Amino acid sequence: MFETLPALAPDPILGLSAAYKQDPSPYKIDLGVGVYKDEQGNTPILDSVAEAQKILLQSETSKVYITPQGNPGFINGMLTLLLGNNSAALNDSRVAAVQAPGGCGALRILAELLMRVNSKTKVWVSDPTWANHIPLLGDAGLELHTYPYFDKASASIKFDEMMDCLSKVNAGDVVLLHGCCHNPTGADLTKEQWQEIAKLANKVGFLPFVDTAYQGFGDGIDEDTYGLRTLVENVDEVIVAASCSKNFGLYRERVGLAAIICKDEKTKSIAQSQIQSVARGIYSMPPSYGGALVDIILNTPTLNQQWIAEVDAMRNRMTDLRAMLVNNLAAQNVDKDFSFINTQKGMFSFLCIPPEQVQLLRSDHAVYFVDSSRVNIAGINHNNVEALAKAIAQTM
Ligand code: LMR
Repeated sequence: MFETLPALAPDPILGLSAAYKQDPSPYKIDLGVGVYKDEQGNTPILDSVAEAQKILLQSETSKVYITPQGNPGFINGMLTLLLGNNSAALNDSRVAAVQAPGGCGALRILAELLMRVNSKTKVWVSDPTWANHIPLLGDAGLELHTYPYFDKASASIKFDEMMDCLSKVNAGDVVLLHGCCHNPTGADLTKEQWQEIAKLANKVGFLPFVDTAYQGFGDGIDEDTYGLRTLVENVDEVIVAASCSKNFGLYRERVGLAAIICKDEKTKSIAQSQIQSVARGIYSMPPSYGGALVDIILNTPTLNQQWIAEVDAMRNRMTDLRAMLVNNLAAQNVDKDFSFINTQKGMFSFLCIPPEQVQLLRSDHAVYFVDSSRVNIAGINHNNVEALAKAIAQTM
């Protein structure tokens, strides 16, 4: 019966990894899928994670299901990491949360929950947004619309246009915001802009939906929660999808959190029962392993310190790589000022070059990144940066 379905083109991000693997060029450069890489191009297990694995191996006595909500140490640790030690919402018991299979799992179950509230819910996503936001939210049945976000010509955020668009959405609409390290542009909102959005959410009555997948990769672990915390402190209801793939390097373990900040404790109980029922209907129980590692790391002071230092090191290295790329491009006398790359945050930058040039870089220079011109900064290293800058200069 499946012959009636059309065969689909490869995923725009994951398909790049497959194409890169097949490329025989010894000089190929992979700036595609968003995974952190070290100077050798490897994605090693963090030392704090390796240590937590040893502790878990010694202490785990059963493989029976964990609870449907997830590991309590993981959930409380993550909520504190996201909302802070003195969060009024946490102190007032207004936060429903479940451990989810990755940030994607969290996005999907929150999408299904929104459908239960209102099957006609409209969700506004930034133009552009992470490619996988579209199926994760759209396939649940939500109606997706875009708000202006990034101007390629000036490589900056179109904040006035964004606000103008969001001021006209309907009460009850949902606005998806990237908590930090915007994927794909690397262009983040300022503190003042987050405050404006919080005010607008109250005025218009839209629900902020924060996706935070790179906490610690922008300005710092605490600093990167500014937008989320500003919304939670000022708006009655906020929903959050968080991922531990990047900042804990736990990609394949699928560790994430879905949280619903409610206006009161009674609503929290309703939301908690509903989100667990959504998860039960999709995958039943959360996987245990990755969440158990995060629980150990967040709740063991020495390991927590070690993890913070490892996140700091990854972030600082990516900042250095940005500067190195900008300097190498300038040394090639390219006819474009790429210094905006230094102001962008996290793992990604938009080079703001047209898709035809991106495709030429792939076919003629074995440089792989997404057609939108999004590059994974962590794929750059001292060995490939000059060749990369030369290839970009020649293609332009
Ligand atoms: C990315 O944006 O490259 C990562 O989030 C990986 C993915 O699943 O797309």
